[in-house]
Amino acid sequence: MSDAGVASFSRLIGTGASEPHGHDGRTGGDHRASWLRAFKTVRDETERRAAPLSPEDQVIQSMPDASPTKWHRAHTTWFFEQFLLRPHQPGYRAFDDRFAFLFNSYYVAAGPRHDRPKRGLITRPDTREVAAYRAHVDQAVAALVESADGAALEKFLPILEIGLHHEQQHQELILTDILHAFAQNPTAPAYDPDWRMPGAAAGAGGAGFVDLEGGVYAIGHSGRGFAFDNEGPRHEVLLQDVRLGRRLVTNGEWLAFMQDGGYAEPALWLSDGWAAAQTEGWAAPGYWREINGAWFQMTFGGLAPVDPAMPVCHVSYYEADAFARWAGKHLPSEAEWEAAAGLGLLENAFGVVWQWTRSAYSPYPDYRPIPGALGEYNGKFMVNQIVLRGSSLATPEGHARLSYRNFFYPHHRWQFTGLRLADYAG
Ligand SMILES: [Fe+2]
Repeated sequence: MSDAGVASFSRLIGTGASEPHGHDGRTGGDHRASWLRAFKTVRDETERRAAPLSPEDQVIQSMPDASPTKWHRAHTTWFFEQFLLRPHQPGYRAFDDRFAFLFNSYYVAAGPRHDRPKRGLITRPDTREVAAYRAHVDQAVAALVESADGAALEKFLPILEIGLHHEQQHQELILTDILHAFAQNPTAPAYDPDWRMPGAAAGAGGAGFVDLEGGVYAIGHSGRGFAFDNEGPRHEVLLQDVRLGRRLVTNGEWLAFMQDGGYAEPALWLSDGWAAAQTEGWAAPGYWREINGAWFQMTFGGLAPVDPAMPVCHVSYYEADAFARWAGKHLPSEAEWEAAAGLGLLENAFGVVWQWTRSAYSPYPDYRPIPGALGEYNGKFMVNQIVLRGSSLATPEGHARLSYRNFFYPHHRWQFTGLRLADYAG
């Protein structure tokens, strides 16, 4: 997910009437009220996630790939201002014209922007001003939805909808980025002292593989509900017989890989992966610390002992690939994952960790980005990245779906990334 979000908002807005894109032409009061509810729900969730964080927490950028919480709160607001209010609200007055430069992420068509690695240097606007910016845009979006005539509503509701899914993606990033920041702190602060890792059932039942019969499968977005452009067109793929890990790979299995010298055996690694592991000094998953011979990991609840029964998390594609080779197995392709998950064969497919596949992030047959500046949302990142499937514990409820294609560079491991295995033998 560069910035790059089932159930979609048909559930959030409580009607199911939004399909396929929430702009079915109905312009009655209930329809508007549903969209206003969805907008408020999503905007409030961003603030709920930021609420435990102090102004000092919200300004830090702990590495170039991560962004400050304050930036996420402002950038998601800029998105509505830039793509919804400016073009569709006649006479709209921007909260502050300078914010377009500060809070544009990567949209070249939307104008020049501040350097991404320097986001943490911006102390002004402060969190109070960013809150006022959010309130200004919230009010303007609500006024637009309430006052627009039916034809105008029809035209801009798809932009409102993508803005909501976009904000949900940043809600996940707020959490993954602050965890990275807190992990740099020797005192290992807790974002939520009561936090517990989900997915306990993942360790139960031992290893186990489920059979996916070879054949022709349709993958990609089916056309019902919202989807990003990169999830289509739906198309057929030919799969061979494969067995997929019913459950996620666990910390206990990862410890076995470590104890067997997995991080020290170059034959297990891709060349780029071995180089990354040496450069970065990888000897364990991200956020793991060895203290007096015992392994701990940084979590939202602070430092906690590594639980062997829980799914492994914060591993890069390179590590996942090396683990699979060590295990004598493979990573599944994204088509295999989608076919198996669609048949209900996979435990914890959603809501625990994103699962690396071995598929390059590339366009589906006849993929075309959506027109205009928003065409930069997904398509221009379709090189050198790897697809992850499912969703994670940080993904907002209702955001993920079967056809969702997340993508990160193979060395990335600050997201909630894990794996399940694939096996083609016998
Ligand atoms: Fe974004």
